[in-house]
Amino acid sequence: MTLGNSANTSNAKLLSWVEEMVALCRPDAVHWCDGSGEEYDSLCDQLVEAGTFIRLNEEKRPGSFLSRSDPRDVARVEDRTFICSRSAEDAGPTNNWCDPDEMKAKLLGLFDGAMEGRTMYVIPFSMGPLGSDIAHIGVEISDSPYVAVSMRIMTRMGQGALDVLGDGDFVPCMHSVGAPLGDGQQDVPWPCNADNKYIVHFPEDRSIWSFGSGYGGNALLGKKCFALRIASAMARDEGWLAEHMLILGVESPNGEKTYICGAFPSACGKTNLAMMIPPDGFEGWKTWTVGDDIAWIKPGADGRLYAINPEAGYFGVAPGTSMKSNPSAMCTIEKNTIFTNVALTDDGDIWWEGMSDEPPAHLIDWKGEDWTPGCGRPAAHPNARFTAPATQCPSIDPAWDDPEGVPISAFIFGGRLSTTFPLVYESFDWQHGVYLAATMGSEATAAAEKQEAIRRDPMAMLPFCGYNMGDYWQHWLDFGAGLQNPPGIFRVNWFRKDQDGRFIWPGFGENMRVIQWIIGRVTGSAGAVESPFGLMPERSDMNWNGLDFDDATFRALMEIDREAGRREAEDQLELFQRFEGRLPAEMEVQRQKQKARFDSAPEVWRLPEADTAVASAGE
Ligand code: OXD
Ligand code: MN
Repeated sequence: MTLGNSANTSNAKLLSWVEEMVALCRPDAVHWCDGSGEEYDSLCDQLVEAGTFIRLNEEKRPGSFLSRSDPRDVARVEDRTFICSRSAEDAGPTNNWCDPDEMKAKLLGLFDGAMEGRTMYVIPFSMGPLGSDIAHIGVEISDSPYVAVSMRIMTRMGQGALDVLGDGDFVPCMHSVGAPLGDGQQDVPWPCNADNKYIVHFPEDRSIWSFGSGYGGNALLGKKCFALRIASAMARDEGWLAEHMLILGVESPNGEKTYICGAFPSACGKTNLAMMIPPDGFEGWKTWTVGDDIAWIKPGADGRLYAINPEAGYFGVAPGTSMKSNPSAMCTIEKNTIFTNVALTDDGDIWWEGMSDEPPAHLIDWKGEDWTPGCGRPAAHPNARFTAPATQCPSIDPAWDDPEGVPISAFIFGGRLSTTFPLVYESFDWQHGVYLAATMGSEATAAAEKQEAIRRDPMAMLPFCGYNMGDYWQHWLDFGAGLQNPPGIFRVNWFRKDQDGRFIWPGFGENMRVIQWIIGRVTGSAGAVESPFGLMPERSDMNWNGLDFDDATFRALMEIDREAGRREAEDQLELFQRFEGRLPAEMEVQRQKQKARFDSAPEVWRLPEADTAVASAGE
């Protein structure tokens, strides 16, 4: 074995862990990543040489690369993801569980010689600004140079993280693509183990082992594995929150800035909201991006909550991203970006479904095959991704890297729901808000006519909570009870449809109107009326400058059907019953209150008509 370079750390735990893993995995070489630009460039050159990367046209997409994964390795593998706490109850009914000793024995077998013929990269990284009290250090060991370069974009990676670590503790993140190279065996552009994938978390040890996949959240272990699954368990133990949330700053024309966190299941436009641009009629308003996927939130000395984005880049879904849906994202990915599983144009640039109305006449698709419009196959994989540095986002908040974090005034939770749920409502209090977040759901598809079954996705954390979801709800309840002035909690739904199956609300930048009302509520300037679901704006409580949206349509968007509301409350029981023994009593109290509000509601609850509207409550 050769040593590519040597460790610039004296951290005893780290040095002995690396030594142990070298003995287990038997790589040909070890490379300690320093995070420098030279190192990044040389690894990218090596990836081009190996056929993993295709260098894109330097004029059109400077410093950027296209990578095509093995078609059997294209997304997170939830059915191969495990939470191995000592007791199965601690993992809860929404996680796969395996006894930790049994799983460790299995993993030791899988990793035995797993890096033969490969280089082991030791990748130190900080989740969050270097040295922030809210941040934590991890070290990933991986045999994938694609992972090493991606981690340099997605985290603060390299010597800086080792310096902050000093002799302190870190989360060990062990990763192998699970494809050792025997004597003289030729490598492939995207090595992986098609049949044997394990994404394993040990919340009590705070460690991660991932085997068999080189893709996204399976392999970039700082993201879902550390920043959500392990961090959520750390947050429970230490009294903070690790959430699947964007962080957005909104600045009013008089320079006042308010930050909100938003949790949305996938396919609900989360990155679009994180990078939204205010619409016509909002002159003087500015929006700022702190994070698009994950928030770590701790109480500050002043009793407010402060959030950081633990990541340093975006690993965004490419299809559907366009100058229309998300111009900031399109600017962010103009250069220095790694694209995975998108299509290649004839002039060495990239394309995906939804980028333009008209597709190019010819492409090479994500599998490397010729593609023409109408050939019946998608050009990009639906889960194709861009990996781009956060600093390239034109709306990046000046405070995005502030070690103190940004103060959070509201939490918003939203799924994709074509019926029943109005555009926006506010919880009556923190406990009610936790109930609204815990019962959140989203439709599995965006099918126009049919009402889809709701997939419950509490707090958008279903695949990411590293412990029993019932305990997680209790943690939210306890956390709020300890806050003097907790943020407001809101539910939003951009996706309600009319009887003809058309979206009622225009969405995208127009969502700013809802955000502005939310900010008005938490700063005490906006009115609301009480509905069976919660507190809702009347039309006069929102800003309609620049948008023609009449009162009748708004009232239809906000109307609540009593029977649908009752059915929703009944349906929630099924969710709650899964957590028997761990369900906080408060959840059922809230459900009963919701039911009672519906029992005494009119058959169809409507906002008062604009001209008869009474003075708003809650001002
Ligand atoms: C993501 C996800 O990739 O939530 O961010 O799946
Ligand atoms: Mn996500």
